Amino acid sequence: MRAPSQRLYVNIDHVATIRQARRTVEPDPVLAAVVCERAGADGITAHLREDRRHIQDADVERLATAVETVLNLEMACTDEMLAIALRLRPHQVTLVPERREEITTEGGLDVSRNGDALRTAIDTLHASRIRVSLFIDPVMDAVQRAHDLGAAAIELHTGPYSDHPDDAAPLLALRNSAAQGARLGLAVHAGHGLTVRNVGLVAAIDEIEELNIGHSIVSRSVFVGIEAAVREMRAAIGVGRRAGTGSAVSDNFSPPRPTSPA
Ligand code: PXP
Repeated sequence: MRAPSQRLYVNIDHVATIRQARRTVEPDPVLAAVVCERAGADGITAHLREDRRHIQDADVERLATAVETVLNLEMACTDEMLAIALRLRPHQVTLVPERREEITTEGGLDVSRNGDALRTAIDTLHASRIRVSLFIDPVMDAVQRAHDLGAAAIELHTGPYSDHPDDAAPLLALRNSAAQGARLGLAVHAGHGLTVRNVGLVAAIDEIEELNIGHSIVSRSVFVGIEAAVREMRAAIGVGRRAGTGSAVSDNFSPPRPTSPA
């Protein structure tokens, strides 16, 4: 089923990455969040990592009050992070796997192994009216498991597609996982590695209602400013959405290429 609209949540972690390179006060990710909202972002995503490599505790505190749209807090499923989420009460928590040595989130949650901890975290957060999404690989078993654990939403890992946008298999996996998630009543989100060049085919997937995009927007903002970068991304999403190609597909699916917006 086609989601009535598709939201863009901007991940502002890498604004903090630049600040942390000098351990100073600028650029301020909270100010970036406000400007992104002004440019039309439907929500703000921030990942408070255990090693605090970019977003700091004080940033999340400020974001919790400054964000006027939706704050989506990405975090590992740990007692420390749960306590922070329960105190700050973001609108949404996306649970992600975390390894200290990784450069960025490298894969989806291992939902088959960490079931008890995930179920407890989901129940606890939902009891506090915080919507829970699980970042998972686009694999049927993981979608089913996320549903069984009681998640409200899944975020499909678009990294394999972003790395190989011309291969049919990663896109097919996204399309079929999205359809399966929607059939099970899950809200379907997606993100990782999306750019104005590759976002169209993901935006075209009917069931995906939220996209989380960070690195390419912050990178582009170096040249055009963050407001323009958000607008460009929105335009690229709109082009892809309008070119929509329907729901789950067969193995011989060959995707149309949306035109690049800029
Ligand atoms: N979704 C999740 C769960 C992530 O961990 C990240 C990266 O922090 C993103 C989306 C955004 O990815 P990117 O920065 O590559 O757009």
